[in-house]
Amino acid sequence: VKRVRVHHLQELKDRGEPWPMLTAYDMYTAELFDEAGIPVLLVGDSAANNVFGYETSLPVTVDELIPLVRAVAGAVSRALVVADLPFGSYQVSVEQAVATAVRFMKEGRAHAVKLEGGQAFAPHVRAITSAGIPVMGHVGFTPQSEHNLGGYRVQGRGETGDSVVADAVAVQEAGAFAVVMEMVPAEVAKRVTHELRVPTVGIGAGPDCDAQVLVWQDMAGLRRAKPPRFVKRYANVADTLLTAAKAFADDVRGKEFPAPEHAFH
Ligand code: KIV
Ligand code: NA
Repeated sequence: VKRVRVHHLQELKDRGEPWPMLTAYDMYTAELFDEAGIPVLLVGDSAANNVFGYETSLPVTVDELIPLVRAVAGAVSRALVVADLPFGSYQVSVEQAVATAVRFMKEGRAHAVKLEGGQAFAPHVRAITSAGIPVMGHVGFTPQSEHNLGGYRVQGRGETGDSVVADAVAVQEAGAFAVVMEMVPAEVAKRVTHELRVPTVGIGAGPDCDAQVLVWQDMAGLRRAKPPRFVKRYANVADTLLTAAKAFADDVRGKEFPAPEHAFH
């Protein structure tokens, strides 16, 4: 099987073919999404919320994320695996950013890294790229800055649309192979997608991005809380698991499990 490379994603944009991206945090989901033909899997710092149960993405550490990245990277035969750099692991300096990206590549066996930020992080993107590591940018709403941005809010409405465009252009010019745009008006995302040579990956950014990403637990309905407006649910995995767990419990209590075929003699 041919591995997905960053130039394949560029070719999809150039041909006008939208591509899907999902998060993954473990082996089984990575295997399934790879088999489903999802070309890019992101081990997001959203593991903070969706694996570790933290309220925001801020507390999750590099040491917590690396084993998840290694599990996902080890499970795929085709997908490009992107490791998200968590809060505090690249903001301190360009040198810190390169060192953290190297850890995700070496210890996590990722194929690329992602970091949040626009013009202010162009030097970080450039330095990591120069070290031979493909970088995915992330502009618009950047969850690691939620305390500075005043919570989960659409970015780039009205006059601030220009700064989203400038941020996306800056990370492209610094060498990013793709740019995530989170919670920006569809009109702004469309403009960015036309202005950028590299693919844009939307989440809450309307239909005109080159690619679309969702958190898998939102996409598959494992998270039971009402998802944000930009999510579409394609399954109800929470109900399936709940029903299975209850049926197992009932079987044990009713002495239905284990049956003769489950026992050794
Ligand atoms: O961490 C994450 O899941 C992300 C995507 C939503 C882009 O950054
Ligand atoms: Na993230």
